[in-house]
Amino acid sequence: MRACCPARPSQRGPALTAPHCSRRIAPPLNRPGFWQALGDQAPTYISGIVTKGMAKPLTVQGTRYMGLVMVPVAGTTDEELAAITSWVLADLGQSAQSVTPDQIAAMRASTTTQNDLKAMRPTEE
Ligand code: HEM
Repeated sequence: MRACCPARPSQRGPALTAPHCSRRIAPPLNRPGFWQALGDQAPTYISGIVTKGMAKPLTVQGTRYMGLVMVPVAGTTDEELAAITSWVLADLGQSAQSVTPDQIAAMRASTTTQNDLKAMRPTEE
């Protein structure tokens, strides 16, 4: 398993995902089984999380996360979010999926809700 926050793909990626390196604050993202179980939905799911945020109770590997809300990652361009989310899927998720700037833009403009996103999650990972 690679490090949680290597200095790639841009300086902003590790800074933005840093809360996820402390598992008490946010769920770990380096869970290949989770990303692979999402399959074709993985780009939609992660695009939704970074543009819509997440504040629903989530249980990840036996730990319940609901104390801290993940806010949408404001002030970050579609290109940056595509690079960061693609890095999460490829490096931390060992997934074949990637995210394009157009997918981020489409999700920003969509009416997808946090409940819609939560419904996509595989519950066992
Ligand atoms: C671009 C950077 C980020 C990415 C790609 C990202 C990704 C994610 C993903 C995929 C989830 C859902 C995990 C799952 O379904 O198991 C999540 C949840 C969460 N994230 Fe992030 N995140 C980022 C930045 C941040 C930042 C900056 C913070 C804190 C300031 C944060 C705090 C959280 C918290 C607290 C949750 C759990 C929310 C809940 O329990 O409903 N994240 N994040």
